[in-house]
Amino acid sequence: MHRPAGAFPCLRLLVVLTLGSVNFCDGGITSSFSRKLQKSVDMPLDSDVFRVPSGHNAPQQVTFCNAVFLTSFGLNLMKVHITLGNHDGSSMIISWVTQDEPGSSKVLYGTDKDHLHKSAQGKHTRYKFYNYTSGYIHHCTIHHLQHDTKYYYAIGIGHTVRTFWFTTPPKVGPDVPYIFGLIGKFIYMPWLYAILQVLYTFLFFAFHCHGSKLVDSQHILSGDLRQTYDSNITLSHYEANRKAQAVLYVGDLSYADHYPNHDNVRWDTWGRFVERSTAYQPWIWTAGNHELDFAPEIGEAKPFKPFTHRYHVPYISSGSTAPFWYSLKLGSAHIIVLASYSAYGKYTPQYSWLEAELPKVNRTETPWLIVLVHSPWYNSYNYHFMEGESMRVMFEQWFVQYKVDVVFSGHVHAYERSVVNGKCEPVVDGSAPVYVTIGDGGNIEGPANNMTEPQPSYSAFREASFGHAVFEIKNRTHAYYAWHRNQDGNEVVADSFWFYNRSWNSADI
Ligand SMILES: *[C@@H]1O[C@H](CO)[C@@H](O)[C@H](O)[C@H]1NC(C)=O
Repeated sequence: MHRPAGAFPCLRLLVVLTLGSVNFCDGGITSSFSRKLQKSVDMPLDSDVFRVPSGHNAPQQVTFCNAVFLTSFGLNLMKVHITLGNHDGSSMIISWVTQDEPGSSKVLYGTDKDHLHKSAQGKHTRYKFYNYTSGYIHHCTIHHLQHDTKYYYAIGIGHTVRTFWFTTPPKVGPDVPYIFGLIGKFIYMPWLYAILQVLYTFLFFAFHCHGSKLVDSQHILSGDLRQTYDSNITLSHYEANRKAQAVLYVGDLSYADHYPNHDNVRWDTWGRFVERSTAYQPWIWTAGNHELDFAPEIGEAKPFKPFTHRYHVPYISSGSTAPFWYSLKLGSAHIIVLASYSAYGKYTPQYSWLEAELPKVNRTETPWLIVLVHSPWYNSYNYHFMEGESMRVMFEQWFVQYKVDVVFSGHVHAYERSVVNGKCEPVVDGSAPVYVTIGDGGNIEGPANNMTEPQPSYSAFREASFGHAVFEIKNRTHAYYAWHRNQDGNEVVADSFWFYNRSWNSADI
């Protein structure tokens, strides 16, 4: 709108500038919440949470992830399925480990628990790391799954067959509601274990609403690992009811590299520890620095060896050439995973892939564009300060241009959310994404003293605490985001935010 010039244009300008700096360009809130200091001790290796399933060579460390979404970018390998008319189909990669012998790589599956009449044949692999030799790591892709359908699947043979289930994602579409859980890191600490538990609290609401038998939810939140582990089976039965449909995991899995010679037994224990979730819902993996396992001093100079052997991601179907950067579509979201620890300079494979990927995102089909990258680009803590800076310099312009809605990161031992106003920070453009860091509680010794001061203007909310978040897509225009602080086993919504889709609410702010 064109207005006649005021009588005091300079004064007006001054007022605008002043208001601007007051309203838009100051730093946000530094939460005064300070968590109790607790000792960071490992859970002992004989904890129930690491228990090996009973039976000779029983499958363990079960995990699965979405394999391919053929709707728009089924390339190369998936061509055969497109020819088979499976454009709308979805596939799942199921992975597990058998410790003593190869056993079977076959997955039986179906929608009727008592009649798993379909089967798919996978393959197994092993790797050595210094003086460690892994078990037999199986990966099996199953194709032609119906959308939004509960499938049961069974792995193992003889007395050690184990059955799990998952619900396939709904058909991709612009107004498909979808709920993501967001998790930073897990370490083997009882108080971090609470993060996982909190994800299950939703179950109990669903559970009570359905009028099923009562469960003492104290068991879940008490932090009593034995009881909690005992509750595992109960919990698992309610997987289908839980709120989050997939987990966006922003990197740093086992922390095996914290142990002598990167003791890869820790990769196994971690796999067993998270199986209670990973066997039932897809986790979208992002590689963090703790996945590098780069140890030339013990002859292990090939980065990501344990991670790539154990966790398979759908990179080929998104045209990527390495499992560290890739994309997939879930619900109404297009998710791009980037690699902080793989080259991203101009002409590198990751750079070229991202350059080609962003224009392919169809916001009419998937309005929400979410990026996961381990090392945050906006981080006002002194931990890992500016580590994400070179990648920000490379790609930020593209993110603004292509209206990325949100960038989730981990790495830092705290929580932070950036402002969104388009007036000054992070960049002067209403299309700039919101940046969220969901780190862990790793170093708990006085993290509050380790923030940069004053709080930078890009930082809307920060708290030296830990938790998990839920990103709840309602439709093409709105998504509700909430960060839940986990403290002493209680869940508190400490920060929340309504997202207006960058593409469907053309920024007039
Ligand atoms: C590997 O070597 C370390 C020390 O060099 C030793 O403590 C550990 O027991 C060895 N592990 C195996 C599986 O041989």
